[in-house]
Amino acid sequence: MQLTVGELAHGGAAVARVDGRVVFVEGAIPGETVEAEVTQRRKDFWRAQATAVLDAAEARVTPPCPYFTAGCGGCQLQYLAYPEQLVQKRQVLHRQLLRGHLEFPLDQIDVLGMADPWRYRLRGEFHVLRRGGAVSLGFYRKHTYQTLPIDACLIHAEAIERSLPAFARAAEDPAAAGVTALQLTWASGTNDLLWSPYPPGTADRDFGTRAAGWIPELNLNDDSIGMADAGRHFRVRPETFVQVNARQRDVLYQRAMQYAAVAASDRVVDAYAGIGMLTARLAERATDVIAVEESPYAVRLGELNMQVNGCANVRYLRGRVEDTLGQLEAPIDVLVLDPPRAGCAEPAVEAMANLRAQRIVCISCDPSTLARDISRFCAGGRYTLVEVALVDMFPQTYHIEAVARLERTA
Ligand SMILES: C[S@@+](CC[C@H](N)C(=O)[O-])C[C@H]1O[C@@H](n2cnc3c(N)ncnc32)[C@H](O)[C@@H]1O
Repeated sequence: MQLTVGELAHGGAAVARVDGRVVFVEGAIPGETVEAEVTQRRKDFWRAQATAVLDAAEARVTPPCPYFTAGCGGCQLQYLAYPEQLVQKRQVLHRQLLRGHLEFPLDQIDVLGMADPWRYRLRGEFHVLRRGGAVSLGFYRKHTYQTLPIDACLIHAEAIERSLPAFARAAEDPAAAGVTALQLTWASGTNDLLWSPYPPGTADRDFGTRAAGWIPELNLNDDSIGMADAGRHFRVRPETFVQVNARQRDVLYQRAMQYAAVAASDRVVDAYAGIGMLTARLAERATDVIAVEESPYAVRLGELNMQVNGCANVRYLRGRVEDTLGQLEAPIDVLVLDPPRAGCAEPAVEAMANLRAQRIVCISCDPSTLARDISRFCAGGRYTLVEVALVDMFPQTYHIEAVARLERTA
């Protein structure tokens, strides 16, 4: 069918309408007319894939990665010139804020993109594909659980790409038959690579040694690796979160610090603190920082990281934000939160709002949950959204990372 598409929706597909029905068209740029094939018919919307472009937008470029056109599910926006990706992501973020009843001018959303939007991922998850005795690693094809084998990925660090054939060969041994996926994490600027099998414990004892034999230039580790951030040192484990784009991590944390504007006398709560990379930056400025984190792995590593970096004014509170904040005594001056994609549970927002911090800095990798959580903070006029920045952590994909500053108004 022939379609002229409008805005890009959260998820990377452009929206068209056919007889009043919404059609999400992948591979199309707002304003383009495309030939599209319907790939999914649901009661309330259809999905389609652009198969030919009849009237190409100026921002259309040839995707440099051959796997993109082969249907790899890793990236969604390679056909869109990078500056236009940023324009579109800003609009998606703006529309999500409006949907949350947050009137914030589009042109006041700061956009912090990358000078070189490739080779930025330092962590990746690769599925194991077994065919006969041969093993390949790859990503799921778009909207499926079928693995597309790959031996190169332009958004991952070269060290990760280089290690893929070695891990694939290591997985050919029958002793490793239970490994269905591998997570690889590179410590940027080093030769250190952390690997971890999925399901946990399925790699045999010699798995790492076999892989290391084919990539002797890399130091493989299956327990933890050290990462540098702003002159500090952090241990990272496979189970613990780390921002996957090291160059933009610094941009994000710097902007979060600017919004937090921590004064020397301030008490700060860092909610969803992880292993403490941002916490350590906050600790350098504040009187004390309370880091709230649910994962026992992250708390253990976070406490170690604070010790290693001399952050004696950080106290970790282990538990869920919604369950633990009641223990804190006022006053709290600044609240920073960086929840997972699903955002905050409603009781967590209430518990955080009850701290009555003067400033709140919200970091999020999902604009729809960000808008929902901010609008809950702003309920009844208690907080006002003052600044928003989009920090592009995930070029070539539809994912949007943003940071917002709220000020207490009641
Ligand atoms: C996006 S990460 C942020 C980590 C950290 N701010 C950073 O920049 O590295 C979210 C963290 O929240 C933790 N988490 C998830 N749900 C939680 C909850 N309800 N209460 C406390 N921590 C939670 C996860 O374990 C994870 O470490």
